[in-house]
Amino acid sequence: MTIQILASESLGVRSMATLVRTQDVSILIDPGAALGPKRYGLPPDKLEWERLHTIKAEIKEKIKEADVIIITHYHYDHYDPEWAGLFKGKRLLIKDPEKNINRNQAKRAKEFIKRLSSAGCFFEVAEEKELWLGTTKVAISGPLNHGPDKRFGAVVAVYIKSPTGSFLHSSDVSGPVQKEALSFFYKTSPEVLFIDGPATYLGPRFGLQECKLARQNLISLVRDLRPTHLIMDHHLVRDLNWKDWAKEIYDAGKCTGTKVICGAKFMNKPVLLLEAERKHRYKTLKNKILNFETS
Ligand SMILES: [Fe+2]
Repeated sequence: MTIQILASESLGVRSMATLVRTQDVSILIDPGAALGPKRYGLPPDKLEWERLHTIKAEIKEKIKEADVIIITHYHYDHYDPEWAGLFKGKRLLIKDPEKNINRNQAKRAKEFIKRLSSAGCFFEVAEEKELWLGTTKVAISGPLNHGPDKRFGAVVAVYIKSPTGSFLHSSDVSGPVQKEALSFFYKTSPEVLFIDGPATYLGPRFGLQECKLARQNLISLVRDLRPTHLIMDHHLVRDLNWKDWAKEIYDAGKCTGTKVICGAKFMNKPVLLLEAERKHRYKTLKNKILNFETS
């Protein structure tokens, strides 16, 4: 099994797009990427837009080789409705467009399905699906909260197991804080776990207690399941201080031999926290302009 993280916050954009290849099949999870529209009250700059264009072109290329596409929920950092036609002839599994969904995502799902139908694409509802593709097993969770509660609808987590490895992709559970999410992780016990982590950058808006609970749950997962890798990215990596926040998780990983890393490190690529560093870039630019005007 090979696991390729195509896009994530540590690679410069909002995303968790991942391609998993086994001896039987290529599975692409969450083919999409986006930018944070406002961070520190500032819009994305040129650097972020350029990175987004590069990454989206790479994801689009990978769609061609995927046999199976899985969309875990209807946020634009996880799918692109304009790419509906590219899924023709693929096995497409999508988060239930009607059940356990908030109003905004239900509207998007409806529009997406319209686009799929007019492009002649078929889809299956992903929730609780179990597939055997040769020797590869794909198991999808039931609905898991997007965030600490039901307000933002639900997502699905994807477990893939082949004779050469096992992987769990858990997008936007923002923690885990919910016990159903945690129990899916325990049930599958993957060797490599890719999770978004809590949105610590939102502070009290996310919930300080929930952040603490998420950290405790991540420590327990490392201690109990002893995965080879715990990849944390997406929400957590929008916080410049995410490594300090995660110190106890790193310590737990040292005891169990688990590599606790972000997506870029997992892929041996440079870490580009473009959204988290946006304020810094604006400040540097402002200083440069001021210096130019006064010189
Ligand atoms: Fe997301």
